[in-house]
Amino acid sequence: MVSVALKLGPALEFPPAAVPASRRIEISLRDVALSYPAGGEGVKTVLSSINLEIAQGEFVAVLGETGCGKSTMLRLILGQEFPTAGTIEVDCKPVTKIDARCGYVPQKYSLFPDRTVLGNVMYGPENMKSRMLGRLRPSFRHFRKELRDQATAYLLRMGLRSQDLGKYPHQLSGGMQQRVAIAQALLMRPAVLLMDEAFSALDSATRASLQEQLHTIWRESRPTIVFVTHNTQEALLLGTRLILLGRHQEEQAQRSSVLLDMEVPSTRLAFGQRIHSHEFHELHEYVKQIAYKSSSLHREEDTAQPPTVEGNLQ
Ligand SMILES: Nc1ncnc2c1ncn2[C@@H]1O[C@H](COP(=O)(O)OP(=O)(O)OP(=O)(O)O)[C@@H](O)[C@H]1O
Ligand SMILES: [Mg+2]
Repeated sequence: MVSVALKLGPALEFPPAAVPASRRIEISLRDVALSYPAGGEGVKTVLSSINLEIAQGEFVAVLGETGCGKSTMLRLILGQEFPTAGTIEVDCKPVTKIDARCGYVPQKYSLFPDRTVLGNVMYGPENMKSRMLGRLRPSFRHFRKELRDQATAYLLRMGLRSQDLGKYPHQLSGGMQQRVAIAQALLMRPAVLLMDEAFSALDSATRASLQEQLHTIWRESRPTIVFVTHNTQEALLLGTRLILLGRHQEEQAQRSSVLLDMEVPSTRLAFGQRIHSHEFHELHEYVKQIAYKSSSLHREEDTAQPPTVEGNLQ
């Protein structure tokens, strides 16, 4: 793993991420590896020697080239897949199944086609509560009304309009569906939020607006967030810590491990101003150089138009 030794210029030196003893560990991965059967007797190892401790309230941005195992790592934390070696704990308990501790926005989200936007977002908590209370009780009706208000508030925060809430998934664009999936995860108010390229299908103005919303939500309630993105700028704008997954250059095998784990320096600048500061630009260049040196990371932001003030300040 790369730590402080990685310096590109005399002025640049960033501390490696380390969880202070006073902070509670929310997610821990110890010597985690995952292999898939690869026909015959062979196996394909995707991840190996992953060691991470993530403290409660951290916002961890994960970068890495396509196919390096970012989504796989999120599914392991979620409990949708299990490691072939090592241990994973969330809130000091081994992960044995998917449960309410983790909210998840998958890379390929799927909404119920026969439910409206509001119906999709309310489905999880409504279903859970109805099993506990039964649908006919007055307390369930009260719960349902409050849930509807909260779901509406999250959907509006995600930039949907009130006239969209009664629409069905086939009537929505990909970006709108993505925003519904994010609202769905947020409504559960999970202690851990796992987001897999959650903003990838959005145009740059909507993306900038949702980045700011997510930052505000994180500041308000401090969930622990693990946020996978291909966009280095987005990773540095949102993350308090940055992890780069990838393959060590000297290794022939395809397996990935943690190549870089660093704290993102905090700044006193307001969220919307950060991206235009000299410090942010320096940091962005530094991380891009490391990422591109270690992999063929997507150059999404190189091909996109440079961010404009209007595009990033909402
Ligand atoms: N069920 C599976 N069986 C076999 N191989 C798999 C399975 N799931 C994922 N893989 C392989 O694991 C590797 C990592 O996949 P993963 O989806 O985690 O990558 P990623 O970093 O999220 O990529 P991207 O940036 O394109 O989303 C890929 O080579 C993929 O083909
Ligand atoms: Mg992926």
